[in-house]
Amino acid sequence: IDPTAFSAALLAWYDVHHRDLPWRVSPRQRAAGVRADPYRIWLSEIMLQQTTVAAVKAYYAKFLARWPSVADLAAAPEGAVLAEWAGLGYYARARNLHACAKAVEGEHGGRFPETAAALKALPGIGDYTSAAIAAIAFDEPAAVVDGNVERVVTRLQAIDAPLPGAKPLIRNEVAALTPRERPGDFAQAMMDLGATICTPTRPACAICPVRPFCTATKTAEAERYPVKAKK
Ligand code: ADE
Repeated sequence: IDPTAFSAALLAWYDVHHRDLPWRVSPRQRAAGVRADPYRIWLSEIMLQQTTVAAVKAYYAKFLARWPSVADLAAAPEGAVLAEWAGLGYYARARNLHACAKAVEGEHGGRFPETAAALKALPGIGDYTSAAIAAIAFDEPAAVVDGNVERVVTRLQAIDAPLPGAKPLIRNEVAALTPRERPGDFAQAMMDLGATICTPTRPACAICPVRPFCTATKTAEAERYPVKAKK
């Protein structure tokens, strides 16, 4: 796959078909110089781990209304944060959320660090979240790999090696495809493609913007990927 041609096709599709999500800066806003707020990107990405976009929207709005900045969240009692989180599940995420806000305030002067490597040292921020924040908020061409992206890439390259063993290979493929320009839009375009076109069952290959680059669709085998190891 030629990375330049691939990201051009994907980003052209994203410019027209991107989902309007409350934490997003649209490509048009972006072109007009609007910057993403790292606090909002971080908050949304933590909430989106293991929770659907539809379920996250209301919680995201509530949190932002009550705690508009990382300083506000850091100053809140932990109990208030856990109570506001009720219903989202995985409460360790809420505890880490609060601990992370306090660390940003206490150890980083109230500003999120701007590289994936530095972000990863914060509570609750792993490989995926650090790369997502670095790419979306700070334009670092980090490889952002979630379940959607794994599905897209294993189909593009017809990767027969099963998950989870294939993860390092998939990460390398994503790194090779990620452009230096607009890496955050690229990451979010891969996620939107996985959520709306390259779906787990019955993918819409006929209208896929990157169909010319896809190996699995040539033999009508997209649904076979990703291959998963037998439990
Ligand atoms: N899932 C996790 N992060 C996302 C994002 N930034 N856009 C769409 N879906 C997501």
